[in-house]
Amino acid sequence: MPENRCVQGIWTSPWLFILAASGSAVGLGNIWKFPYMVGENGGGAFLFVYLLCMLFVGLPVLIAEVALGRSVRANPIDTINDLHERHIINKAWVLVPYLAGLAGFLVLSFYSVIAGWALAFFERSLKGVFTETDEVQTQSVFQELISSPSEMMLWHSVFVVLVILAVGQSVTRGLAVLVKMLLPSLVLMLLGLSVYSVLVGDLDQTLSFLFSWKWNQITPNVVLAAVGHAFFSLSIGMGGMFAYAAYMSKHMSIARACSIVVGVDTLVAILAGLVVLPLVFALNINVDTGPSLTFISLPVAFGSLPGGQLVGSAFFLLLILAALTSAISMLELFVSWLHERFYISRLKASLLLGVGVWLLGFASLLSLNDWSDWTVFGYVLFDLLDKFTSLILLPVVALLLSVLVALNIPRSRLENELITRNPKHFKWWYNVLKFFSIPIMLVITITGWIGV
Ligand code: PHE
Repeated sequence: MPENRCVQGIWTSPWLFILAASGSAVGLGNIWKFPYMVGENGGGAFLFVYLLCMLFVGLPVLIAEVALGRSVRANPIDTINDLHERHIINKAWVLVPYLAGLAGFLVLSFYSVIAGWALAFFERSLKGVFTETDEVQTQSVFQELISSPSEMMLWHSVFVVLVILAVGQSVTRGLAVLVKMLLPSLVLMLLGLSVYSVLVGDLDQTLSFLFSWKWNQITPNVVLAAVGHAFFSLSIGMGGMFAYAAYMSKHMSIARACSIVVGVDTLVAILAGLVVLPLVFALNINVDTGPSLTFISLPVAFGSLPGGQLVGSAFFLLLILAALTSAISMLELFVSWLHERFYISRLKASLLLGVGVWLLGFASLLSLNDWSDWTVFGYVLFDLLDKFTSLILLPVVALLLSVLVALNIPRSRLENELITRNPKHFKWWYNVLKFFSIPIMLVITITGWIGV
């Protein structure tokens, strides 16, 4: 397939794909969600299963998604259509990229509400609200924000506008430059903060929380949460990686690129855990507090740091940018499709989708306060969207994509696409995907649902 077949341009260097994909993977999932998921799901037991899931499910499935994405050099929907027209696969598979796009759309609606919290905390940090604060005060700052629909609406809108403007541009241009500056700054910042947190926080309790766990803590729910979060964190099953892969040079080794992305993503999550958990234990905050955990514990640390106002503001700014580079990839599937298929400009396409995201996000932020009586299966809309996407939609889309690649695409096509130097590596990936990742995903999803 010639390189110039791709309408929206090609990443000019192999590293740009890695940067953009890492920008998609590293986000609120690593810094905000991972620490509280570890806290809620029993610490070490969750961490252990999560790491296994990243390696034996996340990585093989990511490679499958990227290989499929690069094969035709078009947006995910047209890629599947093309494979069908060439009689390689059945028409029914076209449903999968639509489901993936839907997942990205739904996730973005509540993701932008949380990014809005980061914007609100950035503003408060700049104003010095957290100087010499304690956990009771930060808890009430958080509570005040959650109970103010108008303020959450404001920041949610700001974030959605940023996303629309960013996705409106071509992702093969500015995005990688942004991520190139963002990732090293984020890792350095987290490294510095983790040293501080380990020094002033409760390291002993953190270590025993992470390392002395019992096998019976690994329940179906914990396993489902870990696999769901691995997909969320690697942006699998939402078509973003699929879409980005279309712009990837044919000379790049997919397995190598994906391994780097998984490594970076895991590193950032573990660092975030090392920043948040020692503080949580030292401050006697309940480790299973849930989504507010990071927003309550971190400002206390910033408040007591010399230059904390600046450090805290810089941290929240980095968090917002990390959320932005993830959010861009959530809309990429539909935006690239509308642009390539219907010649709608990227900006118009992202505006169209952005308005939908904005409205749904509005409803989900209201579900945290004014509409909190309205529940489905005991969940308010905000939690429902989170649970539905990470426990149902993402695992199902990831499973379908894997089955499509492993059982329907001819093996020779995949071998050509993956260009591994050592044929053993291809075999290893193919067999793990077929005989391990797919059955495991099936078992986990079904037992998890029964257990939920
Ligand atoms: N991986 C992102 C994070 O960890 C979230 C994300 C999901 C991004 C799906 C794109 C697509 O925050």
